[in-house]
Amino acid sequence: MDRVEIVPMQLSHLDAVLNLGYRAYDVNAMPYTSWSLSSVAVHWDAQPEACWVAVDDEGLLGFVLGSLSYDEREDWGYLEWIALDERAQGKGIASALVERCCEGLFTAGASRIITDVESSNQASATLMRRNGFTEGVTVTLFVRTHPEKAAQTGPHAPRDPARARLRRAARATSTR
Ligand SMILES: CC(C)(COP(=O)(O)OP(=O)(O)OC[C@H]1O[C@@H](n2cnc3c(N)ncnc32)[C@H](O)[C@@H]1OP(=O)(O)O)[C@@H](O)C(=O)NCCC(=O)NCCS
Repeated sequence: MDRVEIVPMQLSHLDAVLNLGYRAYDVNAMPYTSWSLSSVAVHWDAQPEACWVAVDDEGLLGFVLGSLSYDEREDWGYLEWIALDERAQGKGIASALVERCCEGLFTAGASRIITDVESSNQASATLMRRNGFTEGVTVTLFVRTHPEKAAQTGPHAPRDPARARLRRAARATSTR
């Protein structure tokens, strides 16, 4: 791996960020079902100072996407998406991305920053604890499936309510 730089996300990174997300997240399982081009674009459009990428001479190594306003609170930042290419993991690059995103959100007015970590994601939990996050409330999403639609996936699969709220907030911001 050559010289690594952490730089603000630009339009030219969009394609690589989207594809790395599709490699890193299981988009058929919560909490990753809302990963999409529009999700990336909404973050970058609303809060570019909270969207950073790590690059080297070969291209994209990782990204972090954050936004202001979590759960209707304008002063709570949300560090929602982070992923690293496998060749870049275990080198402190994720911590550098978390730091830049948090700096951007605090500068933009956040009084605290929330991140949600899926319960089996030890790498992400360790990363967040190492970077000053402490466990708050734990929410377990209980799912009851329609007995005749047990195998259903796709547009009607359960959505993470926190992400739906972020999308609503982003839409409201863009119409102001
Ligand atoms: C989460 C992620 C960005 C962390 O990046 P990273 O470079 O692995 O971060 P670190 O090297 O600081 O690793 C964090 C810690 O988790 C540990 N870890 C890494 N993979 C692990 C795994 N599969 N199981 C348990 N622990 C793991 C590491 O050993 C490290 O702990 P240590 O330094 O005490 O040994 C990266 O693992 C990733 O891209 N994962 C896929 C996408 C994802 O789940 N994103 C988070 C949800 S949005």
